[in-house]
Amino acid sequence: MATTVTIPVVFHVLYNTAEENISDEQVLSQLNILNADFRRKNADAANTPSYFQPFAADTDIEFCLASLDPNGDATTGITRTKTSKFSFDHLTDEMKYNSKGGVNAWDRDQYLNIWICRISDNLLGYAAPPGSPAASDGVVLHFATVGAPPFNKIASNYNQGRTATHEVGHWLGLRHIWGGGSSCTDSDNIDDTPNQLEENVYCPQGNRLSCDNGPYGDMYMNYMDYTDDACMNLFTFGQAARMQAILSTARSSIFS
Ligand code: ARG
Ligand code: ZN
Ligand code: CA
Repeated sequence: MATTVTIPVVFHVLYNTAEENISDEQVLSQLNILNADFRRKNADAANTPSYFQPFAADTDIEFCLASLDPNGDATTGITRTKTSKFSFDHLTDEMKYNSKGGVNAWDRDQYLNIWICRISDNLLGYAAPPGSPAASDGVVLHFATVGAPPFNKIASNYNQGRTATHEVGHWLGLRHIWGGGSSCTDSDNIDDTPNQLEENVYCPQGNRLSCDNGPYGDMYMNYMDYTDDACMNLFTFGQAARMQAILSTARSSIFS
């Protein structure tokens, strides 16, 4: 595959309460999960069923904390901003603008911006796909879904750091594995993910067939499905190639 690339990340922690001001350790836990998942060093890689193992990819994409801020000064790669806002509206991207009580993006041509805050409607997270406007480019994570225990102290189906894995997948051009609608004609446009009718949730077991995708059925343990964090464990080679292609085109400036 391609040579390994490393994406500098800045995490913007926005907090109103102490609980939302998550620790550096929790942010680092998230960074480590991104690196494990994208390099297929995740501890649960063995949970990928044997018939899907041949499709499971090391994407050769890694992440590091930014070490220089936009002024060229040293940074931890984590910004912290106290805010009077109880939650941030996702429809208007409030967390991404100083003027809306959030914090402005660092140059998206140099960094992956990840905002961490309480999101309105308790959305787990969302991402701007390649081609998005510069000011709103990046990923947003609900603070409760960042990292894993013991740093993440919230009991939840989404406390293993996989919301970030899923959202960074979107940021690098991946669609939902079922194609976004509820029909067999829509697609994620990835050849090696089985065509799938609609999203899977919770933690399915066994073969779940749809859209003539037998004998193995839906790849519901893919990071781009809607299953629980503990039940997701792979990207495919096709997805890896799509993300690498985006990094050498629409997002190539990050490496220059
Ligand atoms: N609903 C969000 C999205 O579509 C995130 C889903 C994350 N799933 C998870 N198991 N953490 O982007
Ligand atoms: Zn999604
Ligand atoms: Ca597919």
